[in-house]
Amino acid sequence: MSFAVGLRCRECGTTYPTEARYSCDMCFGPLEVAYDLEAARSVVTRERIAAGPASIWRYADLLPDHGGHPVDLGAGWTPLRRADRLAAEIGLDELWLKDDTRNPTGSFKDRVVSCALSSAQRLGFTTAACASTGNLATSVAAHAAALGWPSVTVIPSDLEKSKVAMTAIFGGTVLAVDGNYDDVNRLCAELVDSHPDWAFANVNLRAYYAEGSKTLAYEIAEQLGWQLPAQVLAPIASGSQLTKIAKGFREFLELGLVSGELPTMFGAQAAGCSPVASALADGTNVIRPVKPNTIARSLAIGNPADGPYAIDEMRASGGDCGSVTDEEVLLSIAQLARTEGVFAETAGGVVIASLKQLVERGSIDRHRPVVAIISGHGLKTLDAIVDTATPTAVISPKLADAEAALARFHHMEAAV
Ligand SMILES: Cc1ncc(COP(=O)(O)O)c(C=O)c1O
Ligand SMILES: [Zn+2]
Repeated sequence: MSFAVGLRCRECGTTYPTEARYSCDMCFGPLEVAYDLEAARSVVTRERIAAGPASIWRYADLLPDHGGHPVDLGAGWTPLRRADRLAAEIGLDELWLKDDTRNPTGSFKDRVVSCALSSAQRLGFTTAACASTGNLATSVAAHAAALGWPSVTVIPSDLEKSKVAMTAIFGGTVLAVDGNYDDVNRLCAELVDSHPDWAFANVNLRAYYAEGSKTLAYEIAEQLGWQLPAQVLAPIASGSQLTKIAKGFREFLELGLVSGELPTMFGAQAAGCSPVASALADGTNVIRPVKPNTIARSLAIGNPADGPYAIDEMRASGGDCGSVTDEEVLLSIAQLARTEGVFAETAGGVVIASLKQLVERGSIDRHRPVVAIISGHGLKTLDAIVDTATPTAVISPKLADAEAALARFHHMEAAV
């Protein structure tokens, strides 16, 4: 059962039924799903949640109505891993990784797509679509295939080969646009008008889609033993994920499922596309759009729709936002893999590099626990590392050759 009662304009507060609507008639502001938390308070207990499925749908009460049949490949309920070796290298007392590489298509986008397409199904749509920097397209194509729906995913044409292949394999229509994500997004806004029966997860279904990211917060709190973390660090592209993680913690607090202080929210961007970090640093909410130029293509949104809301969340909680170079991203992907056995895509590299930057800057408190969101699997961005992650030595199948190479390697290790 869902306690969603309608859609509410985030700017002027006007309410609407839970229909296929994505902007406010009064002010053109974006809409979000509103819940009757007062009614939910007496029903939604820790026990009720814990008895639910091992997926985002254990929180069905606090998500948009899925109409009885969620579109579900098993998104969510991913591990929260204690990362002591990485914490020691960075100089942190307590670090946790929310390992969202472990979703059905390898990124957190499965959470938002499961939500969006469940609502799309309930609302009578029959085609799944999206504007994507890569991961969303893969997830939409996969969930559409699982549902038996056609899909139309629209991506920039310069994405990593592995990401394009992971999307195309599901058999939907993939439109690769010669342009950046902001061009893709503009095109999709036009396609929505000419194809009103298509459910664009992050355009006309955006209010429902965005709710999926709240489950990151719910899971973190539940996995910490029904406690709020002190500090949370999330990657930022459109800014939706970070904004909704903060909303999720607030809702759990309001429902009495946890107590204490809301976490301090931190963001992570690549220096080649950091309009949110720049605006936050300049003390403004006005985002100056940029032309992205970074290997972190999944985060390459130059004009982020939810940027101002993400800035609000970081500023109000005393947070900050990292902005890191591509070189730092690559080093951080390797460091995370080497210390914790977790292989992240470039967005994860942006998060770990930002973690180090924000600790060094004194924004993140070394002595308070930190949860870092690792939102996508490294197999998605193999292109970024294939030239540097190579064999230690290439040898003939002879013992002497192997021993010589090992001696050389150990010699090098000893010298480090
Ligand atoms: C792996 C990954 N992490 C994080 C994000 C950021 O999401 P948002 O647009 O909600 O800020 C994206 C967006 O595409 C992504 O692909
Ligand atoms: Zn409005």
